[in-house]
Amino acid sequence: MKITIDTTRKTLVLEQDAQRQDLPLYSPDAFDVLSRFWLKVGWDLKYSYQFTWLGRPIIQMPEDILRIQEIICRLQPDVILETGIAHGGSLLLSASLCRLMGTGRVIGVDIEIRPHNRRALEQHPLRPLLTMIEGSSIDPEIVGRVKSLIRPGEKVIVLLDSCHTRDHVLAELEAYHDLVPPGSYLVAADGIMHDLADLPAAKPDWTWNNPAEAARQFVQRHPQFAIDEPPRAFNESKLASHVTYWPSAFVKRIRD
Ligand SMILES: C[S@@+](CC[C@H](N)C(=O)[O-])C[C@H]1O[C@@H](n2cnc3c(N)ncnc32)[C@H](O)[C@@H]1O
Repeated sequence: MKITIDTTRKTLVLEQDAQRQDLPLYSPDAFDVLSRFWLKVGWDLKYSYQFTWLGRPIIQMPEDILRIQEIICRLQPDVILETGIAHGGSLLLSASLCRLMGTGRVIGVDIEIRPHNRRALEQHPLRPLLTMIEGSSIDPEIVGRVKSLIRPGEKVIVLLDSCHTRDHVLAELEAYHDLVPPGSYLVAADGIMHDLADLPAAKPDWTWNNPAEAARQFVQRHPQFAIDEPPRAFNESKLASHVTYWPSAFVKRIRD
């Protein structure tokens, strides 16, 4: 792909597969091209590895953090289940929202909770809202432990951010979807891998071996779910698309 930005003519020219597109530079379409490329360069430079939430690293794109916050605040869940704790920042994001909303608690699962991360979370003021479980998120014993902590009828949101292979995410969707009531979501993070497959640190199979593909296969098997981008809570911009690592991520239960 070749992108030419001409600030004098105010155009962005996109050349790909012997096709050429001339876009007005200050247009939503040009913004989409630039942000897709910005996301890609940023991924290679670990852009999302430089933020913290209440003192702990959170490995997410800031826009994705804002969007999950919007969903949590709109749905006011009883439980936010997250796979992939890492340093704990995303657990604390969810827990801090629960504390502010006065409702909800957080369950986190990670195959390895490193001692310094566990210590930091155990000493954190939001500790009472957190339950951490160590083990693989698709191990039936771990799935059983998670489910034993959730009462029937509780409203659950599930954020899947552990191992990002298609089969692992598909297995997570299969394991946890029955926790999610109509109107709520399972979020399969990092479907952007599809667009990153040619980067030096990526793998060529990411074109199909990614969470977005898992989400697509899951909704084909389960017609009570659909990939459904949550509506924006506020938008006075000229833009409709998102700057996100989470394309095709929002798997919504649309009926019982
Ligand atoms: C991208 S990091 C999670 C980032 C975190 N959600 C955040 O926002 O800061 C991925 C985590 O998934 C964990 N992980 C990898 N495979 C897993 C598995 N099979 N089950 C549970 N966790 C897993 C890794 O140990 C790692 O901590």
